[in-house]
Amino acid sequence: MSRFAEPQDPAFRALDSSLAYDRRLWPYDVAQSRAHAGMLAAQGIIGADDRDALHAALEKVELELAEDRFPFADDDVDIHMAIERRVTEIAGPAGAKLHTARSRNDQVATDVALFVRDEARSAHDRIRGLQAALVERAEEHLDWHLPGYTHLQRGQPVYLAHHLLAYFWMLERDCARFSFACDAADALPLGAGALAGVNFATDRRMVADALGFTRIAPNSLDAVSNRDFVLDFLGAAATALTHLSRLGGELVLWSTAEFGFVVLPDAWTSGSSLMPQKKNPDAAELMRAKAPRVVGSLMSLYGVMHGLPLTYNKDMQEDKEPLFDAVDTLELCLAAATGMVAGARFDRDRMAAAASDELIAATDLADLLVRNGMPFREAHGVVGGLVRDAVEGGQPLREVATARLGQDAAAVLEQASWLESKVSEGGTSSERVREQLEAARALL
Ligand code: ARG
Repeated sequence: MSRFAEPQDPAFRALDSSLAYDRRLWPYDVAQSRAHAGMLAAQGIIGADDRDALHAALEKVELELAEDRFPFADDDVDIHMAIERRVTEIAGPAGAKLHTARSRNDQVATDVALFVRDEARSAHDRIRGLQAALVERAEEHLDWHLPGYTHLQRGQPVYLAHHLLAYFWMLERDCARFSFACDAADALPLGAGALAGVNFATDRRMVADALGFTRIAPNSLDAVSNRDFVLDFLGAAATALTHLSRLGGELVLWSTAEFGFVVLPDAWTSGSSLMPQKKNPDAAELMRAKAPRVVGSLMSLYGVMHGLPLTYNKDMQEDKEPLFDAVDTLELCLAAATGMVAGARFDRDRMAAAASDELIAATDLADLLVRNGMPFREAHGVVGGLVRDAVEGGQPLREVATARLGQDAAAVLEQASWLESKVSEGGTSSERVREQLEAARALL
């Protein structure tokens, strides 16, 4: 018997079903059911024989799913219904007791929380791998010069190690964001029932311990309608991918013949179907392009959650595809970034040539005047005038500057001094870069 007299419209079924994508939650659904059945028996809500039958059936189901031979049925609308149906087929009457004191609402929230917790941890670990590659490459390129840019115009020279470590620190903040998302997912929703709690003396602490949750969601209404941890994960992923997009953009630029700062590893590039000479930085381009899609996923879940009255609403089923897509996109982009950073061949001469443009020492020249007592704004104007004279007269800045400012200016325009004079904390002088490297290594 059921509440319904008429069958569902096939188009409704297609719209309603989440099985096509939520089947990837199966390991969490099985783990949760195992813990739930154990708790029900411990509390005397079902018998020990029921629990054993449920555990045996779950064991079988787990194997079927792992070996990709689980018999899905036409009317399985999601992975939770599919697993429960199959457990009941295997365990008989005991199977029908699995859903005692549980709703799909606290069930799905629990599966998704477990998924987010695991994926936030692996994102964190993968980012650590990329950071390790950056530190290694920084150590290999401690004293290589290149121009640092603003507005993509040469600004001031920096060491390549310093440039690479800039990405290390961006990624360090990403690690913190994924740790936050992991912690946000660390409160057990199960036990909230459909929304109000359940009519049995359950032991939520026992379930939390079995599933490795530190906390228990303290309010049943909030527990079934909370997807903040998914938003937190997507936010962390959107920012991390935005960072990777900047790295990708830079690798695309640096690998052009015009820049020539880097040769990307063959493993992460491809040829052209027509032009035999081409080596295209596809992976770097895709890294550059993927971030907006995950930002879009974050926006779409904000849209789903916006204005939703308490508690569970079917809208919330739309949390999964954006989440899964973000997980997969991030994993691929982190693999690409790590592979390219580890395998990139930097061109010392091309970088040094670009960095030997003496105009990028103009700030140092102004600071020389400041050290001799001139206010900085005035010095900025004086050196600006020298640069203009040099550019318009087709003369090296060095000549114009020494003629007007004396030999001190020549010393400032010695290449090595440009970088080593950046002694402020976090600056590009060798000593400061070495400090950074030590701090970075300590974090890894
Ligand atoms: N497939 C559903 C989801 O992902 C599971 C929860 C369904 N709950 C319900 N009351 N219909 O959100």
